[in-house]
Amino acid sequence: MYDFDKVVDRRGTSSIKWNVQWDFGQKDGLLPFWIADTDFASEPKILEAMKKRCDHPIFGYADPWDSVYDAIQGWWDRRHGFHAEKDWMFISSGVVTNIYFNMQMLVPKGGKILAFTPVYDPFFAAIENSGHELVACPMDRVDNYFTINYERFEDELKNGVKAVMFCNPHNPVGRVWTEEELRKLVELCVKYDVYLLSDEVHADYALTRNYTTLGKFPEIYDKLIIYTAISKSFNMAGLVSSCLIIPNVELKKQVVADFESRWMFGPCDLAFTAMEAAYTYGDTWMDEARAYVKANADATEKFIAERMPKIQVTKHEGTFLMWLDMNCYGLTSEKITEVLAKEYGVALGDGSHYGKEAEGFMRFNIGCARETLMKGLELMAAMYDKYVK
Ligand SMILES: Cc1ncc(COP(=O)(O)O)c(C=O)c1O
Repeated sequence: MYDFDKVVDRRGTSSIKWNVQWDFGQKDGLLPFWIADTDFASEPKILEAMKKRCDHPIFGYADPWDSVYDAIQGWWDRRHGFHAEKDWMFISSGVVTNIYFNMQMLVPKGGKILAFTPVYDPFFAAIENSGHELVACPMDRVDNYFTINYERFEDELKNGVKAVMFCNPHNPVGRVWTEEELRKLVELCVKYDVYLLSDEVHADYALTRNYTTLGKFPEIYDKLIIYTAISKSFNMAGLVSSCLIIPNVELKKQVVADFESRWMFGPCDLAFTAMEAAYTYGDTWMDEARAYVKANADATEKFIAERMPKIQVTKHEGTFLMWLDMNCYGLTSEKITEVLAKEYGVALGDGSHYGKEAEGFMRFNIGCARETLMKGLELMAAMYDKYVK
């Protein structure tokens, strides 16, 4: 058993999550539940492999080697029932960087790119900063559960959308999309001949049902890019690495050529080493991490029901990020963020960044030791008692 209860002190390290001060006048930092990395020490065998790699004293430009692809293929086969061919894989730097590049390459400037909102906010930046028109397609929300409105989606497709930027499992609403939902999405993308860019970096944190990758739908293969990474799964976002899976080999060649034309290089080979070790030895660690996060989600729901009952907790199926409707405070998300930080010393994610309809929501990162989680919830409850009760 790995010890996920262990509180790893990250203060004084270079952690962006833990160094957060914002401009609220804190002296000792904030207890952080915002940016999406966890506080879990990564799998020891991965760290061992990285240390071993350091025995060789040079870190020049590097290419991934065969067994890295084998390990990625094995993981997806074994854990997600999807056989990705090795020549579909492009091992690359960070996901968001690749999303930017792919959008620029695939959709002419001014073209429409759709995202189901609320959604991970760099999608908006990637669409708009690369000169495209963002088409926000708000999800339906019934009983704190978000679903795609397919009629609205199809109307937008009829209006000339060229690509869909999808998130599965979904950050921040915590959905693990069902096979049926994905089938409908794929059918419509095929019907209107649009690219489907599927960010699946939270794949390994599907908590309540099995995650289905869009890789299981060959009918969209011509226009599909799947983004995967060890970053969220094994808490290694700082290695700035990913693996794109592109079943259309011609499209994959174009993506690689486009990346290289920008004089971009992949990550350092420490990242390749980490990927190989993670996807080879990481099963047990991943299972335990996922179970721990599920228990954290349950504990959070219980605590909120008992102590902050007017907060509406979105039904949580996956990711280590919970989506809380805190409109009972009668404050904007920005104000809630400020008060939580200034008066209570806690940092949550400002939900309004994730879409127009998300005002009053906050994103709560539960990827931490239970003790830290409970401390954070107590501080949140203190604010609730003053502002809501
Ligand atoms: C859905 C999603 N995609 C991408 C990323 C970031 O990926 P990268 O750091 O590789 O750009 C995150 C990080 O929170 C995320 O939640």
